[in-house]
Amino acid sequence: MAEVVYINGEFVPKAEASLPLFDHGYLYGDGVFEGVRVYGGRAFRLDPHLERLLFSARALAFHTEGLTLDSVRAAVLETCRRNDHAQGYIRITLSRGTGLGLDPSHIDTKPRLVISTQQLALYKPELYEKGLTMVTCATRVPSPDAIDPRIKCTGKYINNILAKMEANRVGAGEGLMLNAQGYVAEATGDNLFVVKDGLIATPPPSAGCLKGITRQAAMDLAGEAGIPVREENLTLYDVYTADECFLTGTAAEIIPAVSLDDRVIGSGAPGPVTRRLIDAFRAHTAQSGTPVG
Ligand SMILES: Cc1ncc(COP(=O)(O)O)c(C=O)c1O
Repeated sequence: MAEVVYINGEFVPKAEASLPLFDHGYLYGDGVFEGVRVYGGRAFRLDPHLERLLFSARALAFHTEGLTLDSVRAAVLETCRRNDHAQGYIRITLSRGTGLGLDPSHIDTKPRLVISTQQLALYKPELYEKGLTMVTCATRVPSPDAIDPRIKCTGKYINNILAKMEANRVGAGEGLMLNAQGYVAEATGDNLFVVKDGLIATPPPSAGCLKGITRQAAMDLAGEAGIPVREENLTLYDVYTADECFLTGTAAEIIPAVSLDDRVIGSGAPGPVTRRLIDAFRAHTAQSGTPVG
């Protein structure tokens, strides 16, 4: 069966799917996006992802009048159904419209919604047992007064790509990004948590991190396990001296991080709180989500 891609109401074969040359997302990074996981026929926290997509678009003043949570959800589910997509990744992008030139008043501002499905393997399974190494990147996250970190927009990701290349250059599993003040923001594609003396802490979005859906899931699961979670500004010292550290993201799920900049974090192996949350997360993703069949 040939896979299809949804483009503004039409399903086209993946091999033939294309965008106009002057799509504003392509020209200027003038788009918003989401990545969603499907586990065992259920899309994990689909509505929070779609709400974030629509809020990102609203914050950027896209003309989203015809797009609702219900209509986007229906398009996502239909794409999964047509692709028989019971396991893997869904990519949803929404660009402002089509036309050359920066000025939105000079382009066709009908947003372009594209939905595709993929298989996904980010980290090898053994890294969930051994943990990732990290380095601090020279590339910083943009200041929140330039672009609100809660907006998941395509154009912002050039910093994340540059930071990821810094991590790759030294063979690290992930790169940690700081904000302009030197506080920890997030990893290049994941949120960061530390565990110290039985308490979990993670930076607030105002520090420059995405308000991650997996981050929220980890906070919910920690709450259910009776482990307190605080949002607070963290420094590199806090990560170097933590008992445990882990990252969260749709692609990475919950993954331990065991060193940063050649400092061993805690025992150098995934700690008990991280392991407990990984187990709880796996149980949670196996049971919850919007059916896609
Ligand atoms: C920069 C960045 N931070 C954090 C995350 C994790 O967010 P989520 O759990 O919603 O996937 C992502 C992935 O979407 C990301 O790209």
